[in-house]
Amino acid sequence: MSYIDSVMAREILDSRGNPTVEVDVLLDDGIYARASVPSGASTGANEAWELRDTDDTSRYGGKGVRKAVNHVNTEIAAALEGWSADDQSGIDKLLNQIDGTPNKSNLGANAMLGVSLAVARAAANSVGLPLFRYLGGVDAHVLPTPMMNILNGGKHADNSTDIQEFMILPVGAPSFAEALRWGAETYHSLQKVLKGKGYSTNVGDEGGFAPSLKSNAEAVEVILTAIEKAGYKAGEQIAIGLDPAASSFYEDGRYVLAKENKKLSGEEMVEYWANWVKQYPIVSIEDGLAEDDWVNWAKLTARLGSQIRLIGDDLLVTNVQFIRRAIQENACNALLCKVNQIGTLSEAIASVRMSHNAGWAVAVSHRSGETEDTTISDLVVALNTGLIKTGAPARAERTAKYNQLLRIEEELGEAAEYAGRMALKG
Ligand code: PGA
Ligand code: ZN
Repeated sequence: MSYIDSVMAREILDSRGNPTVEVDVLLDDGIYARASVPSGASTGANEAWELRDTDDTSRYGGKGVRKAVNHVNTEIAAALEGWSADDQSGIDKLLNQIDGTPNKSNLGANAMLGVSLAVARAAANSVGLPLFRYLGGVDAHVLPTPMMNILNGGKHADNSTDIQEFMILPVGAPSFAEALRWGAETYHSLQKVLKGKGYSTNVGDEGGFAPSLKSNAEAVEVILTAIEKAGYKAGEQIAIGLDPAASSFYEDGRYVLAKENKKLSGEEMVEYWANWVKQYPIVSIEDGLAEDDWVNWAKLTARLGSQIRLIGDDLLVTNVQFIRRAIQENACNALLCKVNQIGTLSEAIASVRMSHNAGWAVAVSHRSGETEDTTISDLVVALNTGLIKTGAPARAERTAKYNQLLRIEEELGEAAEYAGRMALKG
């Protein structure tokens, strides 16, 4: 067994040019590993605390992470020295103890997550195992269906749709590698379709196109055209997923669809999604309602839960307390697992376990602000969740995750199983 020799953090940049935390962990056997932390834009109100230097506006407009870095380099480094590197849950508990707050506001979830992930990577390296195998054991073998966000709106793009994300899921592909090819071909096909209609093909934060469309429905229409023009059958081979991120257009108890000049009640919003599901080959809707609109979440699930996956992102914030409530209230039927929403690897894994035990689907997810770190690719295979959301098949911080999955699929060889449509089933 190897022991932690030193832990060291630094401030690096994420894909939006904002500072974030990177951590190096060195073990006594000379093995070392590194991890870095993503950052959201349409964040849930109940996420673990991202510590930024808000009082120092002279650097990065107050978005620096020197305080978080300093917490790693002082208290955390001192506490972890000599600790067994494979005691992930012990280390994550210790981080929580040092922090001492319910939302990690003392050390910062960004400081804690950087350490938590780097420790796991170092421990895996030390025993000579790929991260997915170290974390998942002998059963890790399911390659996820990618949920590729090829059209960006909401808070991820200016002047685009109200709905934040329009995703394609190559559910009919025979392997992950083929799924990725289908997705990339459809992405390029969409670029042509948009150009043909005179729209901009500039991209948003997650690499998807961000045209100023006339309506939200037009986004689905152009994607369906792109799928067909790429030579695939919409629905059968490539399905559609949505992340409206509805908290971002919820104002005074109404859902404000600016593109359509509509202000809908919760019940009308449920009706709106039910109509879309009738019309289009949609297999999942994430955050179709606002994070505090629990009553209507239950209505949405009662209405559509037997047909599609209703995924809780801002609603659940990867936190077992909210997941427990959602299970009890039948508020949704799937989890979006974002490691930085909760701040340690052990707690993220616990959120997945609880969701799986309830028969839910689970998608492991990136953030709109990302780094070159690929931990989520290994995590999704380790936990066999079968769904990953990591943006368009473009921009290096997104393709880094997809490319790591290609490597894992290659390494697994015959043992690899592509999730396809199964990932959406119970
Ligand atoms: P975020 O968005 O990373 O900006 O929070 C992603 C999402 O809502 O799923
Ligand atoms: Zn979301």
